[in-house]
Amino acid sequence: MSDADARRAPHEDTSPRPVVGILGAGKVGTVLARLLLAAGYRVLIAGSGAPSKIALIVDVLAPGAVATTADEVARASSVVILALPLGKYRSIPAALLDGKLVIDAMNYWWEVDGHRADLDDPRVSTSELVQAFLPGSRVVKAFNHMGYHDLDQGPRPSGAHDRKAIGIAGDDVGSLATVAAFVDTVGFDPVPVGTLHDSIVLQPGSPLFGANLPAAELRDAVAAFPATDRGRAVAAAR
Ligand SMILES: NC(=O)c1ccc[n+]([C@@H]2O[C@H](COP(=O)([O-])OP(=O)(O)OC[C@H]3O[C@@H](n4cnc5c(N)ncnc54)[C@H](OP(=O)(O)O)[C@@H]3O)[C@@H](O)[C@H]2O)c1
Repeated sequence: MSDADARRAPHEDTSPRPVVGILGAGKVGTVLARLLLAAGYRVLIAGSGAPSKIALIVDVLAPGAVATTADEVARASSVVILALPLGKYRSIPAALLDGKLVIDAMNYWWEVDGHRADLDDPRVSTSELVQAFLPGSRVVKAFNHMGYHDLDQGPRPSGAHDRKAIGIAGDDVGSLATVAAFVDTVGFDPVPVGTLHDSIVLQPGSPLFGANLPAAELRDAVAAFPATDRGRAVAAAR
């Protein structure tokens, strides 16, 4: 046994953490980069253009993350987080994400995305649209409902009395479990809310949007959704 092995606690996880890529180096992308670095992941991050355009902001807001191109993020990461304006989802390098786990943190925001009937259709969640655009990827919704300040200040160790929860949704059970573990590692309690179709409960317009709640309260809010105005409108449209 080496000295390093001898010093290591028996329960310590020594397996290499995956490389996590982030598409979008704005408010939420840089916060997620910081959280992931703190959790021990390697992080690649890209904006819409050349890495030099985001190098300074990445150095200041997420030191240790590597600024690169969107193509390189997609190619070199085993998990890719979408943190760009939803209205630009068709600019994501879809083919390079084939076979990958993709976490959709995006929301429709008309002030940013313009008025888009396709992104505001209660019959279909926006993550279903993203999944349809990325047919070779396994898309899971996560990290979209909490504001970036709350995300930044939220991480707590597992079991902490004031730990907050992140709602997650997906169609692939294994990917959902992977993302649940990922959310927990970053410092939040994962709360599965159903399939990608069900993820409309986490979108703007739902009372859950903006939620910065502990797991039990988040679950209560999910259960109460059908009786809300938005829940009734979604059910009627579907
Ligand atoms: N703000 C929040 O509190 C919050 C919380 C949860 C989720 N979200 C969601 O997260 C997404 C980003 O929000 P934000 O507030 O972080 O926006 P933001 O500050 O405006 O940042 C958007 C980033 O996306 C980049 N981008 C645009 N097209 C891209 C592409 N094709 N590939 C890679 N990067 C691209 C932009 O790069 P350029 O500057 O080069 O265009 C910019 O770095 C939105 O969908 C939002 O709804 C936001």
